[in-house]
Amino acid sequence: MEKILRVIEEGLRGAFSACGYEERFAKAVLSNRPDLCEYQCNGAMAAAKVYKKKPIEIANDVVAKLKESHLFSMCDAVMPGFINLELDGGFLAGYLEEMAADERLGLEVTKEPKKIIVDYGGANVAKPLHVGHLRSAVIGESIKRMGRALGHEMIGDVHLGDWGLQMGLIIEELRDRQPQLPYFDEGYTGPYPKEAPFTISQLEEIYPAASKKAKFTAKEGQAQGMSKEEIQTAEETSKAFAQRAHLATRKLQEGYPPFMAIWAHIMAVSKADLEKNYGALKVTFDLWKGESDVQKYIPGLIQELVDKGLAYESQGALVVDIAEEKDPKELPPCIVRKSDGAALYATSDLGTIIEREKDIHPDAYIYIADKRQELHFTQVFRVAKKAGFVRPDMPMDFLGFGTMNGKDGKPFKTRDGGVMRLEVLIEDISKAVYERIMENRTVSQEEARQTAGMVGLAALKYGDLSNQAAKDYIFDIDRFISFEGNTGPYILYTIVRIRSILGKYEALTADGQSGPQSQDAGSPQARTGQQAAGGLQVPDEGAAGRLLSASSDSEKDLMLKLARYNEVMETAFEEKAPHKLCQYIYELSNAFNRFYHDTKILTEADKGRQASWICLIGLVKDVLNACIDVLGFEAPERM
Ligand code: ARG
Repeated sequence: MEKILRVIEEGLRGAFSACGYEERFAKAVLSNRPDLCEYQCNGAMAAAKVYKKKPIEIANDVVAKLKESHLFSMCDAVMPGFINLELDGGFLAGYLEEMAADERLGLEVTKEPKKIIVDYGGANVAKPLHVGHLRSAVIGESIKRMGRALGHEMIGDVHLGDWGLQMGLIIEELRDRQPQLPYFDEGYTGPYPKEAPFTISQLEEIYPAASKKAKFTAKEGQAQGMSKEEIQTAEETSKAFAQRAHLATRKLQEGYPPFMAIWAHIMAVSKADLEKNYGALKVTFDLWKGESDVQKYIPGLIQELVDKGLAYESQGALVVDIAEEKDPKELPPCIVRKSDGAALYATSDLGTIIEREKDIHPDAYIYIADKRQELHFTQVFRVAKKAGFVRPDMPMDFLGFGTMNGKDGKPFKTRDGGVMRLEVLIEDISKAVYERIMENRTVSQEEARQTAGMVGLAALKYGDLSNQAAKDYIFDIDRFISFEGNTGPYILYTIVRIRSILGKYEALTADGQSGPQSQDAGSPQARTGQQAAGGLQVPDEGAAGRLLSASSDSEKDLMLKLARYNEVMETAFEEKAPHKLCQYIYELSNAFNRFYHDTKILTEADKGRQASWICLIGLVKDVLNACIDVLGFEAPERM
C-alpha cells in the first residue's frame, strides 16, 4: 500500500499544481504540534521565495483548493505560511480497512529487492559467548528480519572467529593435561578418534586457563606472595607456553593433521553450543562460516595487493594506505600481513569478501560489531574497493554498537566481576520474570515458566533494541522486566490484553449473551494466523469488517498511529534503526491503552460501532505482532 504520507502528498500536489505552484513544494510531514493538527505542509515557505509572494498567500491558495479534497477534514493556513492538516475520518478508516484486508498489513514488497549479506553474531569459537556478543546477535537478527519483511534477500552469516591464537592455546593446554593423546604422538599417523577429548564445559574452562597461563605477570606473582625466583621461573614457563601456543597456531594454520583433528573437535563441540545459545535467543544464521573458511584466499589476495602496487612494506609488515583527503583526521594504513608473516583480522575479512563476491554476489553488505571496531571496518572496506575486490560503489555499511553497562555505568559483569555468560543472563532475566508472574498470578508453574521464558527474551531484546545502537546503555533487569513503561513486557502485555478482549468478544457473540470468561484470552481461535487478513474475528453482521470513522480523539489517534506502520518499517530498515520500530510500537501500545481506557468496547450497544472497534484493535494486535516478530520475539498466550 502507498504510505499514508505519500497519499497526503498526492492530494497536496494536486492542490499546489491547480494553484499554479510547482508540485515539489507539496511535502507533508507528521505534525510537530499534535495539539494543532495531525500532518502539516511547510512547502509554502519554500515556494514563497520562488514566486515572490508571502508564504501565507500561497498557503491560503492551496488550502482553498484542498477544501475540495476528500482526504482532509481540516486544512488551515496559519502564519507565517504553514498548512495544518487533519485527515478525514472516513478516509482514514478506509485506509486501515485496506491494511486489515492485506496479509502484509500494507507493507509493500520492495520494487528493488537486493541480496544483502548481514555479518553479525561474530562469536569466537571455544570462548564462551558473552554479553559482548549479545548486542551483535540481537541487533543483527532484527535488521535481517526487517529487510526480509520488506522483500530483500537477507543472508545472515555468523562469521565465527575460529582461526586465532585461542586454538593454539587450547592445543598446548590439552597437551599439558593429556600428553598421552595420539595428537601429541609424533609417530602416530592416524586415524584420529571421532570422539572429542573434551566436553563443552571442559573446553570453556581450558581456554581461560590457557590464556591466563600464557599471560603470567610479575605483578600477579607478587600479589600471590611468590619469591623473586619463583616469579622468574613462572615468567619463563609462561613465556615458553605462549611461544608453544603461537607455534601450534602456526602449525594448525599450515594444516598439520593432528592439530587439524583437534581443531575439528573444538569446532564441533563449540558450534553445537553456539547453536544452542543463539537458538535460545531466537537468532538463526543462514551461513555458519568463519575466518577459517577463507584462509585459502589469503596468499592470493596479498599477492594481488602487491601486484596492484597497493601493498608495501613498512617496518617489516605489509600495509595498504587507506587515508583519504576528506577524513577529518588521518587514518592509519591497513596491515594485511604482520612482520612474522601472519595474517590478521583484516586479512580474514578481506578473504571473506572475496569468497562472498565469488559465491554469493551480494548487492550490499551490512556488518554489525562493537563500535570500537569502526576503524577496522573502514580499513577493510577501503582496501576492498581500492583493490577492486568489490565494485567501487558497493554499499558496505558498518553498524557499530555501544557497550552494555551495568547499573554502575561500567561494562556489565557478573557479581563476582567475571564476564557474564549469555546463558546465565537469559536465565537470570527469565527467573526474575517468573517470580513476578508467580507473585500476582495463579497459573501453573509450568505455564509460568514458559511465559517467563518468552517475556524474559522480550525484556532482554527490547531493552537492547529500544536504544539507538551506537549508544551505550544500562542493563537494568528490574526496569526491563517491568510491565509498565517503555519495555518489552509492556508491549507483550498490550498484545495479550487485546487478545483477551477479542476472546471475550468472540464468546459474547458466539452465545449471543454476556458472561464471557476471562480464560478465553488467547484461545486458539483468537490466534489463528488469519487475523491479519480479513478474518479479524468480526461477527458476520452487516457491519462486519467495516471500520467506521473514529468517534473519539483517542480512537483517531490510535488510527493515525496504525496508518504509519509501513512508513516506520521502511525507515527503520533504511536507517538500520530497530529503535525506531521499538519507539513506534511503544507509541502504538500507549495509544491503544488510552483508547481502551476511554472506550467500553464489550458493553457497547451499537453493534456496528462495536464491530468496528473489534476490527480496529485486531489490527493493532496484528501490527504489534508483525513488529515484534521483526524485532525477534513473540507474545505468550497470557501473562
Ligand atoms: N569475532 C569478532 C569479535 O569477537 C567479531 C566479528 C565481526 N565480523 C567481522 N566480519 N569481522 O570481535
